[in-house]
Amino acid sequence: MPDQRSYDKSLELWNRAVQLIPGGSQTNSKRATAYAPGAYPIYAERAEGARIKDVDGNWYVDYVLGLGPITLGYCYPAVDEAIAEQLRKGIIYGLLSPLEVEAAEAIREAVPCAEMVRFLKGGSEVTTTAARIARAYTGKELILNSGYRGWADTWTAALDRERRRGVPECLTSVIKSFPRDDLDALRELLEEHKGEVALVFLDAASGTAPPEGYIQGVRDLCDEYGVLLAFDEIVTGFRLARGGAQEYYGVTPDLACFAKGVANGMPLGVVCGRAEVMQLAKDLVISVTYGGEALSLAAVVAALKEYQAKPVHEHIWRQGERLMAGFDALAEKHGVPLACHGLAPMSSQRITYEDAELSADVWTLLLQEMATRGVLIRRGGLLFVTYSHGDEEVEETLAALDESLAVIAEAVEEGKVKDVLRTTDIEESFRRF
Ligand SMILES: Cc1ncc(COP(=O)(O)O)c(C=O)c1O
Repeated sequence: MPDQRSYDKSLELWNRAVQLIPGGSQTNSKRATAYAPGAYPIYAERAEGARIKDVDGNWYVDYVLGLGPITLGYCYPAVDEAIAEQLRKGIIYGLLSPLEVEAAEAIREAVPCAEMVRFLKGGSEVTTTAARIARAYTGKELILNSGYRGWADTWTAALDRERRRGVPECLTSVIKSFPRDDLDALRELLEEHKGEVALVFLDAASGTAPPEGYIQGVRDLCDEYGVLLAFDEIVTGFRLARGGAQEYYGVTPDLACFAKGVANGMPLGVVCGRAEVMQLAKDLVISVTYGGEALSLAAVVAALKEYQAKPVHEHIWRQGERLMAGFDALAEKHGVPLACHGLAPMSSQRITYEDAELSADVWTLLLQEMATRGVLIRRGGLLFVTYSHGDEEVEETLAALDESLAVIAEAVEEGKVKDVLRTTDIEESFRRF
């Protein structure tokens, strides 16, 4: 049994944060209460390669990876050197940076749909930009969307009344959600709103992989109904393949959005697509001060060169597959109903006891026990892998999982899961994963 790690400095900072920062963090899914506060680190001091060090001095193999942006590894030399070189020349100018052209050309070369490219900052910004371009191009207002596109009003308007508080009610009529993986449901909506739909928006893969033929089926339906198709590649981009999910599935959308993963952690968002559609961005009010910020553009150019020159995606797939197979085998060995789903570079995990309360507690216990053994995972996945996750990290992870599942199996058998949890302070919305 490894010694319990100290998280005292993390907890001290968190207690200060909650007095000062609503929710304690800038990203809801990074809140300490989404994990296991007191039994899992909260604040990082630094990170390198596949590993992260918390403020209490503990090191971990990291699969959370900033919630997805890190694809090559932390402090990846080729990217960091490009950033450092640009830093010596200036961060942002009133004049344009040649990197805007270089980065756009690199994206066009890598991404099948990218005939024209605009740079913004976060994921929410680029998905909202794609919505505006599609509405302007088609002259229609309705968007059919499946999945999370960000926090902007455009997307939050589709949520239930409680979660869309603060969003003008009039926006709720111009967005409708459809369930992923169900072509009939999408066809029904397209039929019901014939002539009203500007855009169908979806992520081509998330926690689960779509059924065979689904993505092509969506493309075909959009063509049949004369509707634009956009892929949210914010998680899949530069992770499933260099050209994203559209390269992986061989289906080209009209528009695509990238953010996480595009610049190995630097804040950059990309909206790109067919020239005829994208060129509208010239005349619309789509303009951000930081779109041409040169450090992120230097990072994306360097990252794209690495994706081209090195077997980055082969490596991410291989290590992801080893982890998924290892997780499934160890779950079976210990009789814990934990299973991996989805695609190997971004797999999700589910724990499915009949008792939902027990599943939620076992998740917390798994986070606790893995952290104790030096591995950070996230409730429900996604388990991200980078080019820096070597065999050593994978072996360490599976050894930690073997021991953690032994602890879990015994606690469940003896009905003592709550007794061995060193935290209970989990927000209800996160326990549901
Ligand atoms: C698929 C997807 N789209 C959009 C977003 C929003 O990106 P951001 O948080 O950078 O605004 C996220 C963020 O988690 C995401 O996972």
